[in-house]
Amino acid sequence: MQTYSRVADLRQALQKARSQGEKIAFVPTMGNLHDGHLALMRAARSYASTVVASIFVNRLQFGPGEDFERYPRTLAEDREKLASVGVHALFAPDEGEFYPEPQSYFVDPPELQHLLEGEFRPGHFRGVATVVLKLFNAVQPDVAVFGKKDYQQLMLIRAMTRQLMLPIEIIGFDTVRAEDGLALSSRNAYLSAAERAEAPRLFCALCELREAILCNGTQNIEELAAAARKNLDRNGWKTDYLSVRQQSDLRVLSQSSGQQKLVIVAAARLGSTRLIDNLEI
Ligand code: PAJ
Repeated sequence: MQTYSRVADLRQALQKARSQGEKIAFVPTMGNLHDGHLALMRAARSYASTVVASIFVNRLQFGPGEDFERYPRTLAEDREKLASVGVHALFAPDEGEFYPEPQSYFVDPPELQHLLEGEFRPGHFRGVATVVLKLFNAVQPDVAVFGKKDYQQLMLIRAMTRQLMLPIEIIGFDTVRAEDGLALSSRNAYLSAAERAEAPRLFCALCELREAILCNGTQNIEELAAAARKNLDRNGWKTDYLSVRQQSDLRVLSQSSGQQKLVIVAAARLGSTRLIDNLEI
C-alpha cells in the first residue's frame, strides 16, 4: 500500500490506474481506525478494483471546545490495518497541503444541516461537506462508501453529490457494533472502564423504543421517546436528543406520514464523551 501526502502525487498514481481501466472506490476517514472503518474498506473492495482510503482530522468540522486537539492520531497503526484489508492507496495530507490558505469557500448544506447533530454542533456539517467535496476532487472516485452510523452525514453527502452532479455513487454501510451492541467509534477510546460498561445502554434504549413502536404504533411516539431519554438520564447520561424521525428527511413525523419509514436517532454524553447512534425501523 502506498501512502500519499500530496494531492499531485495521489492524482498521478490514480490517473495511471484509471488509464488501465480500473475503477476507484474511496473511503474517507479521520483515522484511529476500528473494525467499523475496516468493514467499509472491505465493502469498497467489492465495488472497485482500486480502493483509496483517506485519513485527515478535519479542523473545519470541529467546533470551539470540541475534541480537535485530542482526537486520537494513530497513523502508523492505521497504515498497517489498511494494508491488512487490501487497501491500495492511503491519502494522508497534512494541514498545510489540504488547507494551504484559510478555507473561505464552503459547501453550505440546506436546512437539514441545522437539525439534530447540527443543532448541537453548529457549522459541523458545513465543515464535513466542504472537506468531503475537496477529498472527492482530490481522489475523483467512481464510488464512495460511508457508514450509516453517521446517518445525517450520509444523507447530506448523498444530497450534495446529487445536487452538485458529482459522478460518484454513494454507498451507505450498516453500523458495526461491539458484541454488547455499542456502535464502534474512535471516541469510545475516551470512555473510562465504568463508562464503557454503561455505554451499551444507548443502543439498548434505541432497540427498546423500536420494539415499543412496533407493538404500539406511532400514536404516542413522543411519550415513548421521552421515557427513553429519561431512562438514559437516570443512568447518568446527558441526552442531547433521542428522537423518532422520518428516514426521508429526518423531520418529525407529519400527520400524513402514515407509510413513512422511520429512524430513531440519538446523541448523548457519558461524562465528557459524546456518543451518537441510530436505528432504522
Ligand atoms: P470518521 O468518524 O473517521 O468515520 C469515517 C467513516 O466511517 C464514516 O463514513 C463513518 O460513518 C464510518 N463509521 C464510523 N463508525 C462506524 C461503525 N461503527 N460502523 C460503520 N461505519 C462506521 O465521518 C468522518 O470520519 C468524517 O466526518 C469524514 C466523512 C471523514 C469527513 O471528515
